[in-house]
Amino acid sequence: MSSRPMQSPDNLPNSAHTAVDVVLDTAYQNINDAQWSDLFAAARKSKLEEFIADMFAGKHINLSEDRPALHSALRNLSKAPVLLDGKDVMPAVTKVWQRIEALCNKWVGVTDVIHIGIGGSDFGLRLAIEALAHVPEIESRGMQMHFLANIDTAELARILDRAQPNSTRAIIVSKSFTTLETAMNAKAVVAWLKNSGCTQGQIARSLFAVTANVPAAKEFGVEEDNIFPFWDWVGGRYSVWSAVGLPIALQYGFKTFEDFLAGAHAMDLHFKNAPLEQNLPVIMALALLHQQEKRGIKAYAAIPYADALDWFPKWLQQLDMESNGKSVGRDGKPVKHSSPVVFGSAGSNAQHSYFQLFHQGPEVIPIDFIAVRKPMSDRPEAMAHHHILLSNCLAQAQALAHGKSAANPNDVYPGNRPSNLLFLPELNAFYLGALLALYENRAATLGALWNINSFDQPGVEYGKVLAKPIEKALVGGSDQISPTDSIDAVTAARINFLNS
Ligand code: F6P
Repeated sequence: MSSRPMQSPDNLPNSAHTAVDVVLDTAYQNINDAQWSDLFAAARKSKLEEFIADMFAGKHINLSEDRPALHSALRNLSKAPVLLDGKDVMPAVTKVWQRIEALCNKWVGVTDVIHIGIGGSDFGLRLAIEALAHVPEIESRGMQMHFLANIDTAELARILDRAQPNSTRAIIVSKSFTTLETAMNAKAVVAWLKNSGCTQGQIARSLFAVTANVPAAKEFGVEEDNIFPFWDWVGGRYSVWSAVGLPIALQYGFKTFEDFLAGAHAMDLHFKNAPLEQNLPVIMALALLHQQEKRGIKAYAAIPYADALDWFPKWLQQLDMESNGKSVGRDGKPVKHSSPVVFGSAGSNAQHSYFQLFHQGPEVIPIDFIAVRKPMSDRPEAMAHHHILLSNCLAQAQALAHGKSAANPNDVYPGNRPSNLLFLPELNAFYLGALLALYENRAATLGALWNINSFDQPGVEYGKVLAKPIEKALVGGSDQISPTDSIDAVTAARINFLNS
């Protein structure tokens, strides 16, 4: 396959910055030099540099839960000590890497892996498994990877219809090991193994767990040797770098998992050490902040022009909105800004869906275009298709930036619609790791600038509490229920409808 020689970063305009070979071009943000200076000055004034240093130093920046956010230690391949309350966490992290590698070596005769987990115990891994399946250079063991997240039994039924019980391994992934969907799905898979004739011993050998709650995994029946721990200083949505990423190593080899960590580690070093003016996560965060201040934006989109990254926006939604979708700041007071709504999907498909609104809708929606310079296939037609893919990506950004005037109002494109362009040199485990860490560090930066704790998620709890009495009423069957303290009149009527 012929690919064009890499362009030197020197050929890029001033609006472009490079880190870990990832290029960010902010030319279409329409932010002038004086505005950039003000943005960097404001970031310094709000002590962003101190926040970044504190995060890597293991300070308890997750104030509400009184913990650090040390997911960077999980990809610290240098093994340089990372102190948590005076104790180095790297020996424990390294031990888990060794166990993952050892498991890869004895993982034979497996046809199916059922990965049982939801939210942060699902998205990052699913994104990595899907994305790396597209990389021609990565050899796959060819196991069927099944992702069981939803409590809806449609997913369960589809998977159990296809998997071969005698050669299936189930990996239960849950930081808390108390998540209802995961617990129910795990029980259903164990029951399926039993009903398919697997012996107790076979079932024990087939079950694995990845968790920060080892006692609960043991109580569920997972053997100690099959439990891979991680720790409460890793947020669930930041956990793919832990043993949550185990299937990456099992399917694509331990070296691929290491490359994934290495890309993220390289991006961490950049984030930690680069001056704010050259710091990719910081520049991206400040551009978004600028658009919030000046244009009042309420949503932004991430559009990877790479089918392999179709899961990226779903991963990003949890990262951004669970981290920073909050109205109250670290000081308990209302915040001025918080996370916009994030959405997206792979281009060019996305162009045929909601781009009409980007070009001519009344809302201004900034876009992160993500392009990969090298095609993801070595088929003969790959280069021709790739040129069309890239030309579409560049054209959309240009059309949005400049707009177009016309006599007919229907044909007017207002323009001045901001976007970033990110170029990855190619998509492999290393650059995937770098891309994810770029966005993780951007989310942390935004949280710091908005004065939001990006590492807790209190808002997900209330609905779970209310679901319990509702479930009880549904299980109760046909008796008409009346409103109670926890079930209002609307919901009571809906329950009665369902029970009728
Ligand atoms: O309900 C939200 C959440 O707590 C997420 O933060 C988390 O990623 C997901 O549930 C799954 O949690 P666990 O890994 O503990 O099962």
